[in-house]
Amino acid sequence: MLDSKMIEIIKSTVPVLEVHGQTITKTFYQTMFKNHPELLNIFNHANQRQGKQPAALANAVYAAAVHIDRLEEILPVVKGIAQKHRALGIQPEHYPIVGENLLAAIKTVLGDAATDEIIEAWRQAYGIIADVFISIEAQMYNEATEQKGGWRGFRRFIVDRKVKESDVITSFYLKPEDGNEIASYQPGQYITVSVKPENQEFTHLRHYSLSTAPVHPYYRISVKREDAIMDKPAGIVSNYLHTQVEEGDILEISAPAGDFTLDQSKDTPVVLLSGGVGLTPMVSMLETILQNDPEREVVYIHAARNGSQHAMNKHIKGLTKQHAKLRSYLIYESPEIGDSCDKSGFIDLPWLKTVADSQADFYFCGPVPFMRAINQALQEWGIPEDRIHFEFFGPADSL
Ligand code: HEM
Repeated sequence: MLDSKMIEIIKSTVPVLEVHGQTITKTFYQTMFKNHPELLNIFNHANQRQGKQPAALANAVYAAAVHIDRLEEILPVVKGIAQKHRALGIQPEHYPIVGENLLAAIKTVLGDAATDEIIEAWRQAYGIIADVFISIEAQMYNEATEQKGGWRGFRRFIVDRKVKESDVITSFYLKPEDGNEIASYQPGQYITVSVKPENQEFTHLRHYSLSTAPVHPYYRISVKREDAIMDKPAGIVSNYLHTQVEEGDILEISAPAGDFTLDQSKDTPVVLLSGGVGLTPMVSMLETILQNDPEREVVYIHAARNGSQHAMNKHIKGLTKQHAKLRSYLIYESPEIGDSCDKSGFIDLPWLKTVADSQADFYFCGPVPFMRAINQALQEWGIPEDRIHFEFFGPADSL
């Protein structure tokens, strides 16, 4: 435990570090990757380029530091991050590397302002935070391994089927090469794929939500091909999966993880909102509700750019016909000739109020602007926070 003087130093320096937060973490990543290039096999290079990961890590370290004397208050957030770390295969021995390079970056950026006492306080605080992550992750590694059908690290899966869902989304049905059982999962969880395309120097890891209910002897992921747009390069992994990986090929994946899950203990109405490929966890949740709790009211709302980019339309229409308690709505941002939808443009609060129940639990996932708009609409409507649930694809951002 930190003594009260150290706690005082940590709390009084957090605002200073926050001002320099981005510079510190960018410096930190640059030196860490120079000293430990092997870590480029774990970190998402695209997120680094866009500065998303430096921001997420900086925010987490400061949030933890502010709570250093009552870390239990931020345990849910720590657990969400630890789930991602477990899925990526982060090990205890990685923590000192991050710690050393983070402290060195603080020193470099703050210069003389970073006295020995300040650095010592942060060294101790980082050690405490790291120990919390390490012990939670150890527990998660054990749970993933001991679960029926579970495993530790990455396991080889055969691409049993590859199915085109739209112009940009393709599903991959994955069966374990060893033929043994696979771990079940909560609707909303993801698996992490590890690939090393021939033209790449490093291994690349990506999380993909499971896109069916957990009732099959396979996992299904549905991947959007990320094309190059302006200065954003094409997605390495999504393009590799779309163009290079075929039925019969092997993909290495880690066991299901994630804390964005459907609360099946409730019987409130549910509203599932998705934008684009954000539909993947929603389809898993929807199928699960229809299967396990067919009397629960569900509204499924999906927004896509147009008909050609819209995946699983037939499937949702079929489910809507079969299930009296399910209503589904379709919004196209810019419909093309022949497209039919319930609304064109965007989802807005007046429209949402006409189709959704204010007593519902709301789950949503999609591009960041979509998520901001939905979150704002729900806040404006007065939906309490404990009935608003969302997931970012990529590092968590603020809404
Ligand atoms: C992701 C915090 C230690 C590797 C993240 C995220 C946060 C975070 C907030 C973003 C989660 C999200 O996607 O929403 C921390 C904190 C640490 C720590 C507070 C120390 C106490 C480590 C260590 C490693 C590591 C030791 C391994 C060297 C990663 C990777 C990601 C990640 C690879 C995914 C980022 C990406 O590839 O985009 N971490 N982390 N982290 N962390 Fe950590």
